[in-house]
Amino acid sequence: MEIDYSKRSFSYYPTNAIVYAKCIDGKWSKPEVTDDFNLSLHCFAGVFHYAPCCFEGLKAFRGVDGRVRLFRPDENVKRMQSSAAYLDMPAPSMELFLEMCISCVQANWDFIPPYESPSASLYLRPVLFGYNPQLGIHSAKDVMFVVMASGVGTYSGAKSLVPGTAVLSRNYDRAATYGSGGYKLGANYAQSLHAYNLAHKMGYRELLFLDSATHSHIEEFGSSNFFAIKHGCYVTPNSPSVLPSITNKSLRKVAEEFGLKVERRTIFVDELDTFEEVNSCGTAVVITPICRIDDKATLESGTITREYKYSEECGPISKKLYDRIIGIQKGLEEDTYGWCMFVNEPK
Ligand code: PLP
Ligand code: COI
Repeated sequence: MEIDYSKRSFSYYPTNAIVYAKCIDGKWSKPEVTDDFNLSLHCFAGVFHYAPCCFEGLKAFRGVDGRVRLFRPDENVKRMQSSAAYLDMPAPSMELFLEMCISCVQANWDFIPPYESPSASLYLRPVLFGYNPQLGIHSAKDVMFVVMASGVGTYSGAKSLVPGTAVLSRNYDRAATYGSGGYKLGANYAQSLHAYNLAHKMGYRELLFLDSATHSHIEEFGSSNFFAIKHGCYVTPNSPSVLPSITNKSLRKVAEEFGLKVERRTIFVDELDTFEEVNSCGTAVVITPICRIDDKATLESGTITREYKYSEECGPISKKLYDRIIGIQKGLEEDTYGWCMFVNEPK
């Protein structure tokens, strides 16, 4: 059956198989590919209690040449290893992580969207979590690592580059100053769910978190990093409580290639008034332009105290950055940085 990827958003859509491996007593099992998506877990497994869980997100694209590419998967491995180190639990090696991602793509080959479906990809979700039964508060001794996939469309379900609105989160924080925001932990997302629900109920697409110590500068969106364009500069926050986005890192390189100055620094809320283009960026959202950011005393309040407005269309520099990144991912442009890893069709 032909899948219409243009109707898809960023959701779970069934695929053929997942790939999993376990690390028990410090020894990793051989990865297994299965069509059984139901994992059997002990109810005392740490993940259900103290949230020893971290995950990654990366995409496989079918290129213009028919070849399938993963975008910078080595960066995902390094980030997962740093998240696992923060949780003091075992992490997969570079080799194991890559092998399992490749197996997952191959097992779900028919769900890699065709090149012609713009904005569609096979999204891989590697998840690592505490597996051994426990009751006391300890880090997980044993872990399970699962790589699953979903053939997704754009994050919002709208066409790519259609701008969305955001609201500042003044009375809910995503990450503490010396907390876990710089790691990709499931717990960070649990922390943002309630505030996100409030923002969504009010019709906002995104929630923009501030630093938790002073609530005076921009950190990041709940789903993605923040970047803005101003006077030929690419400006993005520099904070240890912001997730180090692989997309943002790549965009900074591309921005330099285009002759933009790159500034990673503190961005005070007032500076929002001075930006020419504002975007969220990340694997799921790619680049999503923001056309308005509202400021309110609290998310629950009906009164907007200040409004920052941007174009109703993606800005020209952001569009250029988007085209270059997508161009590399889909094999339309030369991959000058060697960012893509090819995956061969299964035999
Ligand atoms: N910030 C948050 C909170 C995210 O969830 C994500 C998504 O992974 C990002 C930023 C973007 O990171 P990346 O570009 O590595 O996907
Ligand atoms: C990603 O972009 O890969 C993420 O994990 C973000 C989240 C919105 C799912």
